[in-house]
This record gives sequence, structure tokens and C-alpha cells, in this order.
Amino acid sequence: MCQKKELLIVFVSFLVPFCTSTDTISFNQSLKDGDLLISSGKSFVLGFFGNSPGKRYLGIWYKNVPEQTVVWVANRDNPVNGTSGILTIDSTGNLVLLDAKTKVSAWRTNASSARKRADSYTAKLRDSGNLVLFQDSKMDVIKWQSFDHPTNTLLPSMKYGIDKRTGLNRFLTSWKSLNDPGMGEYRYTMELNGTPQVFLYKNSSRIWRTGSWTGHGWSGVPEMSQRFIFNLSYVDNDTEVSLTYGIRDASIISRMVLNESGFLNRLTWQESEQKWVQFWSAPKDPCDNYEHCGAFSNCNLFNLVEFECSCLPGYKPKLSRQWYLRDGSHGCMRKKDKKVCNKGEGFFTLSHVKIPDTGAAQMNKSMGFKECEELCLKNCSCTAYASANISAGESGCITWYGELRDIKQYANGAQDFYVRVSASDLAQRSKNSNSHNRKRMIVILVGSAAAIILAISSAYCVVINQKRNDRNRSNSLASYAGMVENKPAEISIFDLSTITDATDNFSDANKLGEGGFGRVYRGHLTDGQVIAVKRLSVTSGQGTEEFKNEVTLIARLQHRNLVRLLGCCVQRGEKMLVYEYMPNKSLDRFIFDKTEGSLLDWGKRFEIIHGIARGVLYLHQDSRLRIIHRDLKASNILLDASMQPKISDFGMARIFGGNQSEANTNRVVGTYGYMSPEYAMVGHFSTKSDVFSFGVLCLEIITGRKNSSHNDQEKSQHVVGYVWDSWKDEKALDVVDPLLRDSYEACEVLRCIHISLLCVQPFTNDRPTMSEVVFMLCNETNLPSPKQPNLIFRSENQNSVNEMSTSTLYGRYQYLF
Ligand SMILES: *[C@@H]1O[C@H](CO)[C@@H](O)[C@H](O)[C@H]1NC(C)=O
Ligand SMILES: *[C@@H]1O[C@H](CO)[C@@H](O)[C@H](O)[C@H]1NC(C)=O
Ligand SMILES: *[C@@H]1O[C@H](CO)[C@@H](O)[C@H](O)[C@H]1NC(C)=O
Ligand SMILES: *[C@@H]1O[C@H](CO)[C@@H](O)[C@H](O)[C@H]1NC(C)=O
Ligand SMILES: *[C@@H]1O[C@H](CO)[C@@H](O)[C@H](O)[C@H]1NC(C)=O
Ligand SMILES: *[C@@H]1O[C@H](CO)[C@@H](O)[C@H](O)[C@H]1NC(C)=O
Ligand SMILES: *[C@@H]1O[C@H](CO)[C@@H](O)[C@H](O)[C@H]1NC(C)=O
Ligand SMILES: *[C@@H]1O[C@H](CO)[C@@H](O)[C@H](O)[C@H]1NC(C)=O
Ligand SMILES: *[C@@H]1O[C@H](CO)[C@@H](O)[C@H](O)[C@H]1NC(C)=O
Ligand SMILES: *[C@@H]1O[C@H](CO)[C@@H](O)[C@H](O)[C@H]1NC(C)=O
Repeated sequence: MCQKKELLIVFVSFLVPFCTSTDTISFNQSLKDGDLLISSGKSFVLGFFGNSPGKRYLGIWYKNVPEQTVVWVANRDNPVNGTSGILTIDSTGNLVLLDAKTKVSAWRTNASSARKRADSYTAKLRDSGNLVLFQDSKMDVIKWQSFDHPTNTLLPSMKYGIDKRTGLNRFLTSWKSLNDPGMGEYRYTMELNGTPQVFLYKNSSRIWRTGSWTGHGWSGVPEMSQRFIFNLSYVDNDTEVSLTYGIRDASIISRMVLNESGFLNRLTWQESEQKWVQFWSAPKDPCDNYEHCGAFSNCNLFNLVEFECSCLPGYKPKLSRQWYLRDGSHGCMRKKDKKVCNKGEGFFTLSHVKIPDTGAAQMNKSMGFKECEELCLKNCSCTAYASANISAGESGCITWYGELRDIKQYANGAQDFYVRVSASDLAQRSKNSNSHNRKRMIVILVGSAAAIILAISSAYCVVINQKRNDRNRSNSLASYAGMVENKPAEISIFDLSTITDATDNFSDANKLGEGGFGRVYRGHLTDGQVIAVKRLSVTSGQGTEEFKNEVTLIARLQHRNLVRLLGCCVQRGEKMLVYEYMPNKSLDRFIFDKTEGSLLDWGKRFEIIHGIARGVLYLHQDSRLRIIHRDLKASNILLDASMQPKISDFGMARIFGGNQSEANTNRVVGTYGYMSPEYAMVGHFSTKSDVFSFGVLCLEIITGRKNSSHNDQEKSQHVVGYVWDSWKDEKALDVVDPLLRDSYEACEVLRCIHISLLCVQPFTNDRPTMSEVVFMLCNETNLPSPKQPNLIFRSENQNSVNEMSTSTLYGRYQYLF
């Protein structure tokens, strides 16, 4: 692709030597291998790189990041042989990379054909990392810029997308390998058919799709956030469609890179640890694979009993045998082949989904929601509709007229989607959901009886093989995040007598505690290992097989800040979970105790806060199961021998609550004082309700006060209100646990208080996500100001609520506004 044969236009020997530490290169100057252009703010440098002597590349990398991190490459597929490369501006005004020995060009901008005024051309490396070629020495008119020709990296303030006037498409292409910046096989590129979407390609096959823009972010990236770290700018007008990430805090170094194995990673530079840390990555799971479940289906990772694919309402598997064997790729077809038209059809709502590929859909940005439904209903070939913009209610209209492909189900976030169904499907569906509810009630009523019957029919005891693979040390990112490889857990069958022997027949002497879900006992196995056995109360209403499945899944979650589940036992109507034993018991025994509390200085408490945050992040984001804990509190944080925090009870919400893909529940599980308002009041839970509990927990760790221990009779005040009062009077340090004495740095404690207050914001949108919390804890970024938490908690007893109707809870909360 480069003009190897082209003759030298400039006489290399006449060129003025390049003087170092400048950011510009002008007509008569040249930059040779070894020289560097350094941007004015010393953020980026341009120069030659490449380890093998026969392969040198011109590129741009960070000035302040010790491990050379190249963000742009000029001659990707055309290395210069040896160190004879020079960069200069040729007589046509183009930047050109020449091999001084062979006199052929390895790379050239094709921006200019000036023959006369080429001597006024100047190139400058900007502090954003953009190499810009100007037509004039005053640097007003841009002829070419490296930001218009990205390689594998998207830097802040760099656009990706399409300029409709010029046809310029800015997209990312992976490197061939770690040491070869040549064009690799992965491409991340925007397409405008239907509505704009970004696709990840491997050669010519699509492997992932961001989905369309919802007004907040991409439909298939619900975790995308505009707050705290990034300011996004999405443009979709007559001249261009583009997305630009800005960084609010200029001191943060962050980049998005399409790596050689086809993953998009957003990384930030962690100054204190001198390494790149992963902030976000995609694709994540099987449901991200493009068209994983074929047409007219929904991919749902939470569907654990069957497999991840399910047909949309009104549709059935196209090839039932393949479907039965869990190959969903052939998709689904309409149940009755008869064409339905104007015979009382309606729509089913799928909530929290990535809407299907819009490549063949139609969009009208100004149409209202009701009109959209009518439009779709009127036209017999319309299969579904959705709103085009959900940033302020639902507005705009997208309609589909054929196959619906690549839908993914999320537990929360994303958007609603409306599938056209026949009149009989509508009737069928509402009947089903009624009987489903009835069935659930019966299960709850006779829950204990059913459990006993099921247990008698198959009594077994499972202990999951404890010989797990050691942490994969080569994977530094995973080990940084505390993750341990999710190897399938091996299961071996055990006998119940082992548990009764170990716990001395559940003797009181071995009882460690009691919570909403049951009692916990210490046990000694014959090989000397100490275990903790949780004997579940019999109300879960879950069948034996289901329970076993859940436990196996949960046992695969491994993170250094989660208590390790070793196995389970189901026998004689009882269900038990076996955990590793934590000698230091739980966090509440320390922070709420005048003597023990002094054992935890600020450094330790800060570490504990970090650890909890990483554990919760893993549950929310990094584990395949996407667990919402729903009962984060001090007594559920256990401490190991070195006082590392370990979250316990993290699978309980699943085991007891059932369907994690529903965002509303009428069975509220949790603990007063830690519950977010939307969860306590209307049973709406999400990862943001855990963020709320985390905020309360942090405030307890900082203040050493229980969330409702303030026993001023009249104005009984929750720890949140107590901290807020001091915060707004700018006396936040007054709330710090006196036991910490002078073990803390004020700015660090204030930052933690600040973050905690953001976590307990009354509106979920104002709360950060867990990954933002982790980031904020590790980086000194600017934080938004917290608003007043508007909730007052009455002090109540501290016990977990196992099941409780929302109306009972309602009376226990009192709103100020
Ligand atoms: C410049 O044009 C030539 C010939 O069309 C092409 O091979 C080369 O890739 C172009 N260079 C750049 C940097 O786009
Ligand atoms: C470039 O070098 C030539 C030859 O030395 C000189 O005549 C010309 O003025 C120089 N141009 C600029 C812009 O410095
Ligand atoms: C690079 O240059 C060396 C020495 O001039 C020569 O032996 C070698 O073949 C060259 N390699 C390529 C790929 O042209
Ligand atoms: C992608 O293209 C590269 C280069 O053309 C080829 O080597 C590779 O086998 C292709 N991969 C696939 C999956 O088709
Ligand atoms: C979505 O709607 C909001 C509020 O009406 C508007 O500000 C925004 O520009 C819209 N976004 C797009 C992409 O149309
Ligand atoms: C489209 O948006 C870009 C960026 O904001 C702006 O420069 C351009 O003028 C806009 N075009 C139209 C037709 O509004
Ligand atoms: C993001 O904010 C910074 C600082 O306010 C600003 O300079 C930049 O233009 C913004 N970027 C985008 C893409 O909005
Ligand atoms: C690419 O990124 C993925 C996801 O972060 C990671 O698992 C993989 O190891 C990376 N590949 C390379 C070659 O770095
Ligand atoms: C989009 O919807 C509006 C409002 O219903 C309507 O006036 C307009 O004609 C529609 N545009 C197209 C292209 O159909
Ligand atoms: C239904 O919509 C499709 C796609 O816009 C269009 O081609 C077709 O003519 C419409 N049919 C009717 C009956 O309006």
C-alpha cells in the first residue's frame, strides 16, 4: 500500500538537523530515528520504536508511562529496515516517512498536493496525542491529523464514527500481535444502516454489536456512564455521526484499546502502582456473541435452569432437536405460521434488553411513543418497536419489519422492547402469568412440606473439591482485581454424618451466630480443616436440584474478597452450606466495639473498604452470574486471619429470592438501615441498591457507629443523617471514630466520606456504580457534590428480614420531603 518505488523528492542531505524537545516539525526539518517530538504539556512523544532491528515504526506513545504504550502508528504494515528512517515534510506538503538508505517512502499522508507553498507546511504533536499537519506556519488550517486515522487506540477527545460529507470513517483495528502493529484481524467500526451502531468484526464476521444509541449510551453497554470520569459527546446530525469520550479530570490517563485477541479494553494508568488497570471490557459473555441465539430469541445468562437462549413470546425453536441439545444458533420461528394481521394483535414488553440489530429497522426521531405503537400495529409486517431515545422518558420510534436478531437480557438498565404477538398469544400469556403466581403462592405455603418430600426422594451431600487451581499469576489484571480463575468446580459426594460429627451434632458450643437465613456453626473435619456450616431455615421454597445447581454455580465465584463456599449438604429436609472458616469472625464485632475497635487503625479500615468494594464489584460485574447481594452489612463482612475482608452470604439472595432477572420483587430481603429507599419502599432492587448499602457500611466503618445506634429518643437519627449534618456544616471530620486517634490522613477520610455520601443518594441515577466507586477510591479525581440524603431511618431492630411484604416496611420509613 505504500509507495516503495516512489523516488525521493527532497534531498535528504540538505535537511536541517532536528533540534530536540520541540513539538513541531517544519518544512526543512527532519526527525530521524532516535529523535523525539515532545508535546508541549509533556504528555506524548512521537518517535521511532520497534524491538527487532529490521522493523522500526514511527509512532506516538505516552511520555509519562514507563512501560512504552504506543497509541498510534504511522507505517503499520511497512516497517523501516534498521534505523535509517526519517520523518519530514516533502515538496508537496505531505508528511512522509523515508528510508534514508533506500530512498523509498514507508508511509505518506495523502493530504496535500501543494507544489508552491509547501514550505509553509508545519506538523505539530499536540498534548492530546494528536499529530496535526497544518497548511500554514501559523497553524490555522488543518490538512491532516492522526486522530482521523486511529490505529488500535481511542484516546480522550478523539472521535470515532463517520463524517457523512467526506465519507471519512474513523475506526479501530487491532495489532497483529504484541510486537507487530500491522493491521490485525479485528475491527471496531460504526455503521449507519437503520440507526447508527458499532460492530466488532473478526475479518468479515460480526462478533459483537454495541446496539443503538439510547440517549444515555449504547443499548448493549448499559454500564456505560456519563458521570464522574467521562463526559461523552454523541453527535448524530446531517454531517456526522460520532462519539467522543472526554475525561473530566485531566490528570487521569485513560485509553480504550482493541487488543490483539479482539477485546475492547478501557484501561487507566494507576500512578501509585505503576500499571494499567482495566476499567471496562467487552465482549463479556456468550450473550454478547453476535446472534448467539439466532433470530426471534432472547439471550439471557440468568436463565440457569435451561440454557441462555429462549424464544420470544409467540415464537418457538426452528429446529427443536438442536435447541434441545442447547444449540440456539438456528433461532426461532412464529408458532403459527398463519400470517397474523389486524386480528387483535398486541405487544409484549421485554424489559431491560439490548434491542435487536437495527440495521434493517426504521427510525423516526420525532415520533411519540403511542404513535410508534400505532404505527407498528397498523403495518402487518412490523414485528416489534422500541423508543429511540430514553434519556428523557421515551421518545422517538424504531420499528422492525423482519427478523429480530441479537437481543440480550440484562438484570437491570438497558431499555424496554415491544414484540408483536397475536391475540391468542396475548390471552395465553396473561393466563399463564396468573397461574404462575398461584403456583408460587402454593410453593411458599407448603414450602417446608415440599422441601421435605423432595429431600427424602434424594438425599445427598456434596462437598466441592477444595483443591482449586492457584491464582493465575500471569494474568496480572485478574489478580489485581482479586479474581481467581473460574474453573468448573469438581463435585464429590459426601455423607451427612461428616457434618454432624464436625459440628458435634450442631452443639451450642459450636454455634457462631444466627442470621435471617439460618444458624451458623463451626466444625472440625477429621483432616483438621475448620469449616463454617450454615444451616438454612427451611423456607426457601427451592427444589433440591435447583438448590444444588445454585450452589455449584455460586461455588465457582471466586474472589479474594468473597468467603469461599466449599460445598453443600441436602438431607432430611435440611439444606446446609459449607464455607471456609474465618477466625476473626465479622466486621461488626470490631467496629462497634470500644476495645476491639482500636485494633483497626485507619490503614486497616481503608483496606477493608477497598476489599469490600472489589468484592461487590466482582459480584456485580465480573462474575458471570451478576449477583446483587441485597444484604450487605457489617455482620456479613467476615475477616480472615490477616484481617482481609470477605463478603459472606453473597449467594443467598439467589438461593432465596429466585429470579434475579426481575428487577422488582414483592419479597424484600435485607436489613433495615442498609436498604435503599427504592428497594425498601417498592421492592425495586438493582446493583445500585447494593451501592447504597455499601455507602452505609462505609460510614459505619469510618464513624464506628451502627446505622441506627443514635438513641436520641425524639430525633432518632440514622448514621447517614448524622454524617450529612456534619458534612454540610463542613465539620465532617467530627464524625470520625475517636478510636482512630491520629492514624488517618484527613483528606483520605474526607474522600471516603464523600464517596459514601454519593453512594447513599436517594436517586439511583445519582449513585455511582461499583466500578466507579472502586475507581474513586483508588484515584484522586474530582468528585461531584453529594445532594442531601432525604431519608430518615427510624431505629429498628437489626435483624435481617427474610420475607416481608413491602407494605409492612413502608410504615417503618419516614420521608422528610
Ligand atoms: C496514500 O495513497 C496511497 C496510494 O493511493 C495509498 O497506498 C496509501 O495507503 C495512502 N497513505 C495513507 C497514509 O493513507
Ligand atoms: C529550506 O532550505 C532551503 C535550502 O537550504 C532554503 O533555501 C529555504 O529557504 C528553506 N526554507 C525554509 C522554509 O526554511
Ligand atoms: C535489512 O537490511 C539488512 C542489512 O542491510 C539486510 O541484510 C536485510 O535483508 C534487510 N531486510 C529486509 C527485510 O529488507
Ligand atoms: C482472517 O484473515 C487473516 C488474514 O487474511 C487470515 O489469516 C485468518 O485466517 C482469517 N481468520 C478467519 C477466522 O477467517
Ligand atoms: C434524546 O432526548 C433528549 C431529551 O429530549 C435530547 O436532549 C437528546 O439530544 C436526545 N438524543 C438524541 C441522540 O437524539
Ligand atoms: C453536526 O455536529 C457537528 C459537531 O457538533 C457540528 O460541527 C456540525 O456543524 C453539525 N452539523 C449540522 C448539519 O448541524
Ligand atoms: C469534557 O470536559 C472537558 C473539560 O470540561 C472539555 O474540555 C471537553 O471538551 C469535554 N469533552 C467532551 C467530549 O465533551
Ligand atoms: C485482550 O483483552 C482480554 C480482555 O481483557 C484479555 O483477556 C486478553 O488477555 C487480552 N489479550 C491480549 C493479547 O492482551
Ligand atoms: C415522523 O413522525 C412525525 C410525527 O408523527 C411525522 O410528522 C413525520 O412525517 C414522520 N417522519 C417520517 C419520515 O416518517
Ligand atoms: C409496512 O412497512 C414496510 C416497511 O416500511 C413497507 O415496505 C410496507 O409497504 C408497509 N406496508 C403497509 C401495508 O403499509
